[in-house]
Amino acid sequence: AMNGMLNIAVKAAREAGIIMMRSINRLESIRIKEKGINNYVSSVDLNVESFLIDYIQRFFPDHAVLSEEVGAIGDNEYTWIIDPIDGTSNYLHSYPHFAVSIAIRYEDTIEHGVVYNPFRQELFVASRGNGSTLNDQKIRVSKTLKLSNALLSMAFHCQTGRDLSGSQLLKVQTLLNNVSGIRTSGSAALDLCYVASGRTDAFWENNLKPWDVAAAGLILEEAGGLISDLDETQNYIYSGSLVSGNPKIYEQLISLLRKID
Ligand code: 2AM
Ligand code: CA
Repeated sequence: AMNGMLNIAVKAAREAGIIMMRSINRLESIRIKEKGINNYVSSVDLNVESFLIDYIQRFFPDHAVLSEEVGAIGDNEYTWIIDPIDGTSNYLHSYPHFAVSIAIRYEDTIEHGVVYNPFRQELFVASRGNGSTLNDQKIRVSKTLKLSNALLSMAFHCQTGRDLSGSQLLKVQTLLNNVSGIRTSGSAALDLCYVASGRTDAFWENNLKPWDVAAAGLILEEAGGLISDLDETQNYIYSGSLVSGNPKIYEQLISLLRKID
């Protein structure tokens, strides 16, 4: 039988997806606020978030929550790490690539991860030690062996009014010369799930938050992928800087990026 907490996380994610899809047809009525440069929050993010927190607290009133828009609530050995919409910028353009992300942390360990893309009705789930699934089918990372054949996803965080740093640009230039293709999707959670399911071979990012990666990082690892900070430590959930991929591509990618660091 499915773990009780995981079961609630899956139900919550599906309900959150329904709210997102209901609201996407009336984008003109959605209120939007720019909370930082090119960083938006909408009334849908807030509605989905409060739905999720209410739902979780109904079943687990003592558990803590860490969520993108409200921050940290409570203190408990269990913490639910939530992104109501990962890919808000896509969502607000009706670009159909966004997801809800829910991770369950016990003490320092992420035990369960759920990422749901309501547009494609794709549910990615992992529990530590139990592998990863997409719509109940086991998933594995790709078997691509060489970086030159790899499809890589990454993000360009547009910094209107600021300059991209030279070392960032140098890394991008080097990648353009060493991989077979680059995608930038706008949802870090889905980027990691796509590596987990073999749709891409690697993902590189360096400006993320725990709610973007906590669930999908476990989904990637349980699908046989490797993920770490650029310095190969295991603090990527909190540092926001990560390299991931199938094991062969991860090794090649991290050594290439570290040469430029
Ligand atoms: P969000 O949609 O929840 O904001 C895009 O590459 C990824 O980075 C998404 O997971 C997105 O999460 C996040 N993101 C978008 N804008 C950002 C910003 N200005 N700073 C940090 N992360 C951002
Ligand atoms: Ca978000």
